[in-house]
Amino acid sequence: MNTSTSYLDQYDAAAEADKFPLVRRWMDTEPLPFFKELRAKRPILVTPKCTLVTRFDDVREILNMPKVFTVQPYVPKMDNYLMAHDDDALHTREKSLMQFMLSRDDIPRVRDMVADIAKGILNQANGNIEVVNDFCRMVPATLVQKYFGLTGAKRSDLIEWSYWNQYDTFHNQPFDIVSPELYQKIVDRHAETSKKLGDYITMLIGKRLLAVKLEKLTFSTIIRLEDDIVTRMLRTSFAKELDFDIKRLGVNAGGLLIGAIETTSQAVAQVLQYLFQHKEWLVAAQTAAQKSDLTEFDGIVWEALRFVPITSYLFRTTVSDYTAAKGTNYETVLRAGTYVLPVTLSATFDERAFESPEAFIPQRNWYNYFHFGFGSHECLGRYVGMVMIPEMVRQVLIKQGVEPKGDIDYKSGPFPESYDLAWTTQ
Ligand code: HEM
Repeated sequence: MNTSTSYLDQYDAAAEADKFPLVRRWMDTEPLPFFKELRAKRPILVTPKCTLVTRFDDVREILNMPKVFTVQPYVPKMDNYLMAHDDDALHTREKSLMQFMLSRDDIPRVRDMVADIAKGILNQANGNIEVVNDFCRMVPATLVQKYFGLTGAKRSDLIEWSYWNQYDTFHNQPFDIVSPELYQKIVDRHAETSKKLGDYITMLIGKRLLAVKLEKLTFSTIIRLEDDIVTRMLRTSFAKELDFDIKRLGVNAGGLLIGAIETTSQAVAQVLQYLFQHKEWLVAAQTAAQKSDLTEFDGIVWEALRFVPITSYLFRTTVSDYTAAKGTNYETVLRAGTYVLPVTLSATFDERAFESPEAFIPQRNWYNYFHFGFGSHECLGRYVGMVMIPEMVRQVLIKQGVEPKGDIDYKSGPFPESYDLAWTTQ
C-alpha cells in the first residue's frame, strides 16, 4: 500500500465496482494493518458485496445470533448436514448426539494415537518429507480411519473428498474472487467427490452394520469389533421418535471425515512455517516439546495459530435487519439479505480482549481465540483438533536439526499444497 494514504482513503476514493476487489486484496495480502485501521476508524465496513465486522465484541455478538445471522451460504454446499442448520431441532439433536459419540474421555488416547501415527510417518521419511501431503494430510486421514472408523477407502481418496468439499464451502462463495471457470470447476469436483463419498459411506455402513449385528448375535465371542466412532454409533439404538435413522447416521459419519483433514493440514503447516520463521519461538517450542507437561508447548502452538489462522473470517447471511454495535458511535444497520463477515482474525488483535495484541504471548486466555469458531456453530471436532494439531507440530519439531527447504507453496489456491522439510537422522 502507498503509506501516505490510508486504506479507507483509498477505499472511499475508489469507484463502486473497485471497492470490494480492493478490500479482498487487502484481506488476502496485508490483513493485519488493514484490519487495524478498520478497528480504529470504521469497525463495521459495509462494502457492495458484504459487511466486515472487525471488533471482538461485535464478532461475538454476530456469532451468537444464529437465527439472525444464518449459515445460509453453507446450504447449497452441504447435503442437509447439521452445519447448514441454524439453531433448530436437527442441529441441536445431531450435534449433541455427535458430541456424545466423540467422548472427551477418549482425548488422551487420541493424542497417543496421533503421536504414534505421526512418528511412524516421520520415521519412514528418513530425514526428508514433503510435509503437506505426506504428513499434514496423511495423519488426520489415518486418524479418520482408526478413530472415526472410516475404514476400507484409500487415504488419498479420503483426503480428496475432504479437500473439494472444504474448497467449495469455504473458498467458493460470492465474496471469494474466483473466475467463473474456476468456480464451476470447484463445484463440479465437489459434486463428483460427494457422489464417491456417498457411495463409500453406503458401503461402509452396510458392512459395519452387518458386523455389529453378528457381534451382538454371538455375544462378542466370535466377532469383537474395534471401538471406533462409526461402530459406536451403530452399536447404539435410538428411539424412532429421535429421527436418527441409518441415513442420518451415514451423513454424520461423512461429516467427521470432511471436517477433519484439510483444516488440520492447513493449521499444522502454517504453525510450522510460523515457528520456523520466528527463531525465538521455535527454540521455546522445541524446549517445551520435551517436557512431560505439554501445556506450555500447546500454548505456543495456539498463539502461533492466532497469527496464521486457517481463515481470517467466518461468513453468514443476515436474514432480518439488525443494528450492530448499538449505542456506539459506529452503530450500523446490517440489512436483511446481505452477507456479513465476522472477521475473527481482526477480533484476535483487538485490545479489548488481547493485551499487546501484536506481541506473541503464549498461554493467553483460550476462550478468546476463534480457532474452532464461536457460538452455536463452534466446531464439533474441537477437542480432537485441540490435541491433534499440537501433537503433530510437536512430532516434527522434536526431529533433530529439522528445518524447512523453502516456504509453503499454495499453488495459487487457498490451502497449503507443498512444503519441504529436512532433518538429520542417525
Ligand atoms: C478433527 C475433526 C473435526 C471435525 C469432525 C470437525 C467438524 C466440524 C463441524 C461439524 C462443524 C460445524 C458445527 C456446527 O455447525 O454446529 C465445525 C465447525 C468449525 N470447525 Fe471443525 N472439525 C474438525 C476439525 C477442525 C479443525 C482442526 C479446525 C481448525 C483448525 C476446525 C475449525 C472449525 C471452525 C472455525 C468451525 C466454525 C464454522 C462456522 O462457525 O461457520 N475444525 N467443525
